[in-house]
Amino acid sequence: MRPSPIALVTGANRGIGREVCRQLAENRLRVLIGARDPAKGEAAALEMARGGFDVEAVALDVTDAASIQALGDKLGAVDVLINNAGVDYDTDQTPISADLARVRRTFEINLFGAWAMAQAVAPGMRRRRWGRIVNVSSGAGALASMGRGPPGYSASKAALNALTRLLAGELAGTGVLVNSVCPGWVSTDMGGRGGRLVQDGAASVVWAAMLPDDGPTGGFFRDGRPVAW
Ligand SMILES: NC(=O)c1ccc[n+]([C@@H]2O[C@H](COP(=O)([O-])OP(=O)(O)OC[C@H]3O[C@@H](n4cnc5c(N)ncnc54)[C@H](OP(=O)(O)O)[C@@H]3O)[C@@H](O)[C@H]2O)c1
Repeated sequence: MRPSPIALVTGANRGIGREVCRQLAENRLRVLIGARDPAKGEAAALEMARGGFDVEAVALDVTDAASIQALGDKLGAVDVLINNAGVDYDTDQTPISADLARVRRTFEINLFGAWAMAQAVAPGMRRRRWGRIVNVSSGAGALASMGRGPPGYSASKAALNALTRLLAGELAGTGVLVNSVCPGWVSTDMGGRGGRLVQDGAASVVWAAMLPDDGPTGGFFRDGRPVAW
């Protein structure tokens, strides 16, 4: 691990992303809390700062190029990117009935948002020859077990997994590790009730951020164990 690495977490004002921030800060990273509503980001940052953690809220909508660019020099300094922002577990749709405008919107966030963020931070990581990119995916995006399921969400997470492979391929040998992680079924606004604790889901994600330099890249993991693509 580099001395005092800087992490940026997208969609970090609530749910898994917020807890990922807390756990990264606990691991002595400086954490940028990305939130599209600045007030919600500030509230999360205030609570964590009270716990003595080194955190800062940043306004960030991953679908808005201007919002990403507004982060300016901060982007070049990011050592650990957690592409956590995700939406629309669309169990109310089927592939045949799906509203494609809605599916496109899902792809804008779950795939293109993560892609744009990787493009924004990867050059700095490559220059410093150290970095971690974690794409928060889902078992729903695993082609190996895909059948019935939320269509827009599943297809977007399968595409996110493809992005993981492609980025890992381009960054192979540069010291930048890129992996997909499933947090498991977690009780959040998205996951609803009955899932596991947000602390456990977040720990599954943080594992990939804290990988040693000889750790895996281009993989898909849950709780540190490989998941079939
Ligand atoms: N919960 C589960 O069981 C589960 C299982 C597998 C995978 N996952 C994945 O884990 C990740 C986090 O899920 P969660 O359960 O914590 O969801 P959540 O509680 O619904 O939180 C989603 C977060 O994404 C943010 N977001 C949405 N659109 C955004 C955008 N355009 N730009 C920036 N941020 C945006 C939301 O911000 P606002 O507050 O502004 O809406 C919120 O902070 C997602 O990628 C999800 O697909 C979750």
